[in-house]
This record gives sequence, C-alpha cells and structure tokens, in this order.
Amino acid sequence: MTEGLHRAPAAVTFDAIGAAYEKAFASCEPHLRSLEWLLDRLAPGSRVLDVGSGTGRPTAATLAAAGHDVRGVDVSPVMVGLAVRQVPGAVFDCADVRELPLPEESLDAVCVYFSLLQMTRAEQSEVVGRLVRALKPSGHMVLATVSLDVEDVDVVFMGQPVRATAYSAEQFAKLAADAGLTVVYQDECDFTPSYPDAVPEPHVYLYCRRDK
Ligand SMILES: C[S@@+](CC[C@H](N)C(=O)[O-])C[C@H]1O[C@@H](n2cnc3c(N)ncnc32)[C@H](O)[C@@H]1O
Repeated sequence: MTEGLHRAPAAVTFDAIGAAYEKAFASCEPHLRSLEWLLDRLAPGSRVLDVGSGTGRPTAATLAAAGHDVRGVDVSPVMVGLAVRQVPGAVFDCADVRELPLPEESLDAVCVYFSLLQMTRAEQSEVVGRLVRALKPSGHMVLATVSLDVEDVDVVFMGQPVRATAYSAEQFAKLAADAGLTVVYQDECDFTPSYPDAVPEPHVYLYCRRDK
C-alpha cells in the first residue's frame, strides 16, 4: 500500500488494465491511419520515441516491423512487461516521461497516443515542448488525445477510477502549435472501445512536423 501511494497514478491505473487495453482499442482505424502517415515520412532506420507505449501494439510493433529504431517509454511496469514480450524488435523503458532526459534534436519522430491524459495542463505543455525540442528539424510527431475540454475530472476508465485532463481538438492543436509544431493534418473521430459498457469517445489525432 505504501508503494502505491508513491507511484504515479497512471502506473496504478494501467498496471490494473494491462492487456485488456489493447483488446479494447486494437481496432482503432484512425490510430492505424496516423501510423501509415508517419511511416510514409520516415527514412529507413529512423529513431522514434513512443511515449506511453502501452502494450507495444500497434505503435511500436508497426514502426519496428518497418525497420525503425524504436524506443518505448511507459510508467506502468505491467505495460512495459507486455511490450517487451510482444515487440522484441523495439526497446522499452519503464519511466515517467515527465522525468525522462530528452537530448535535443536526437529523434526523427515521436508518437504520443493518449498518454498525456493523467498529467496537468502545465505538465502536458512542458512535456510536449521538450518532445518538440528532442525532434530533429523537419522531424514528425503524432499527438492523440480524447478531445474534451476537461481538467482534473474524476472518471471511471475500463473499471478504474482515474483523474483526467484533456483539451478540445482546437485547444490541443493550439498546444501543439505553441510548442513549435506545424499541424499538417487533424483527424477527428468518435471511437467506441470494445469493453462492456463502453461509450463513444471523441478522439483527435494531430499529424505534426517540426519546422522551427
Ligand atoms: C491510454 S494508454 C495508451 C497506450 C498506447 N499509447 C496506445 O495508444 O495504444 C496510456 C499509456 O500511457 C502511459 N502513461 C501515462 N502517463 C505516463 C507518464 N507520465 N509517463 C510515461 N507513460 C505514461 C500509461 O501507463 C499507459 O500505458
């Protein structure tokens, strides 16, 4: 119990959800579409960071299968264990991205799929800003979130109590632009995950490039 008190809330949540997350979200076509967009822009052997890599599928698995040098980071030890087993072609670290050293201009691409939701707005801006600076000039980033204008609200996600913070699609695009990204394309959809009592979730995907 003491250990739990000192762990990031996201680690507690996603340790409990584990492999069920992939089952519920695996059929998410917009996620797969955004990976195709990214793959079309990556030179062979690109260095890609997947932030909040979850089970490793589909993001790290897809990019590693295409021959890229993929590193996933996730704060949940259970998720990292699943990713290591499922995606031997990528490397995974158990770390909180808020504390992760990110050398400037070291990455060709960054993926951030639904991994900011348990951070404050200030933390989300700070993390995205550091990720942008870690991109090489002309590098690419895909950012995805639940597009709702909510701050620190209590929700139940896949049976787990969670405090969530998110943005409307417009606010999220502004966060990306303020961090120095050009939003090349914005994909919005409603997605209903496959688990009992799931409801449609509004999602936004930002396809971005570092131009500055
Ligand atoms: C909603 S899941 C999405 C997983 C994966 N990105 C996907 O779309 O399939 C969010 C993931 O981000 C991770 N996460 C949340 N906050 C994090 C943080 N501060 N640092 C690293 N990982 C984090 C969670 O543990 C979880 O595995």
